Amino acid sequence: MGSDADNSRSWGKFVATCLIGGVVVALGASALLASSSSSSSYHGPHLPLGIGFRRRKKKPVRVYMDGCFDMMHYGHCNALRQARALGDQLVVGVVSDAEITANKGPPVTPLHERMIMVKAVKWVDEVIPDAPYAITEDFMKKLFDEYNIDYIIHGDDPCVLPDGTDAYALAKKAGRYKQIKRTEGVSSTDIVGRMLLCVRERSISDSHNHSSLQRQFSHGHGQKLDDTGSGSGTRVSHFLPTSRRIVQFSNGKGCSAVLLAPSDLIGLGPGQDARIVYIDGAFDLFHAGHVEILRVAKELGDFLLVGIHTDQTVSAKRGAHRPIMNLHERSLSVLACRYVDEVIIGAPWEVSKDMITTFNISLVVHGTVAENNDFQKENGNPYHVPISMDIFKVLESPLDITTTTIIKRIVSNHEAYLKRNEKKAESEKRYYEGKSYVSGD
Ligand SMILES: *[C@@H]1O[C@H](CO)[C@@H](O)[C@H](O)[C@H]1NC(C)=O
Ligand SMILES: *[C@@H]1O[C@H](CO)[C@@H](O)[C@H](O)[C@H]1NC(C)=O
Repeated sequence: MGSDADNSRSWGKFVATCLIGGVVVALGASALLASSSSSSSYHGPHLPLGIGFRRRKKKPVRVYMDGCFDMMHYGHCNALRQARALGDQLVVGVVSDAEITANKGPPVTPLHERMIMVKAVKWVDEVIPDAPYAITEDFMKKLFDEYNIDYIIHGDDPCVLPDGTDAYALAKKAGRYKQIKRTEGVSSTDIVGRMLLCVRERSISDSHNHSSLQRQFSHGHGQKLDDTGSGSGTRVSHFLPTSRRIVQFSNGKGCSAVLLAPSDLIGLGPGQDARIVYIDGAFDLFHAGHVEILRVAKELGDFLLVGIHTDQTVSAKRGAHRPIMNLHERSLSVLACRYVDEVIIGAPWEVSKDMITTFNISLVVHGTVAENNDFQKENGNPYHVPISMDIFKVLESPLDITTTTIIKRIVSNHEAYLKRNEKKAESEKRYYEGKSYVSGD
């Protein structure tokens, strides 16, 4: 057998051993994952082994980042990933519903759903609910004194308070402020725009030919779209999926094992004897319902493999206006989830015998809450092979939320969102116009 594979396996064990503090134990896949959430482990990026050992004894560097995390997407996840790389432990403040409502209009996702989303991001160590919209002097003192925060992190977009002052002036003055580069290519405004457009299109005429629209939104090629009808003018998707971004989101089972690793350690495979669970779906507008079913699925095994259907499959099954997020965008959101070990970017609709053998899948699961569960009654059930092998299980979905739920919430708040979008689109346009290169990734 290939010595490469053997190498990477021993590297995997070695790194995992370092992370849990030098105790030599044989680690299975689940132990390795558990080590990722251990608060005593060191997770700095790109440091040679020696430094990792020396730093382990020192007090970990704790960094803080806050946000609304409404309609959380991979842009938020990427910001959290970058923030975590600036320290050893990431504490995230999630703004309350009341504060969001007061500052920008009602959120689409209530606090408890936003908490589920943020906690599930694999780079997050602790979450503080009900964080203030703008950091006050009191709250900053609390962060430093009670939460032992070393640095407050924010993106390179300006954050101006209603009175025109810089929200982070205090932290900057104290020398406790660090900046990350804003993630290009996606914003909540853009996502809301995509949804409203689809809904509007459909209401104009259900028999209208959507193919050109569909092409623009399903594949994220960044074509210009003139006249969205919301008064915000031209909207452009800036999303450019790169192999590096996918690698960053995939890194070693969420334990940031890449820090000492040869590149073949990235995306550690399942360990020996690991029980592999498979779940598939569109995972469009990744939401708390997705997170919860993934958590339950992961509990049934050691390694969770997630199949993400292609844009073509999703359109064929759910209609031309879906998916809202393209395959690469959907994949990044799923990859950022701590319960997920690996994703198939563009999974087949039908779970075949060959797939089950190739990935050594022990169990195929599907949630009770889905956009459409009728296919189980049709002939051509995509799960007929795992059903016949008696390795198929229907899981009770913990939350009654689907992508359609999210879209409906947005539509019901249509007017408020249009107003909010106009304001935000204007400031985003200014940001892109004035943009210059900022180092970091
Ligand atoms: C939609 O339009 C495209 C090109 O304009 C055409 O090729 C296709 O047949 C149309 N589809 C329907 C269902 O009318
Ligand atoms: C396949 O999975 C089973 C657990 O379901 C495990 O016992 C077995 O070792 C795995 N096979 C290989 C080759 O990893």
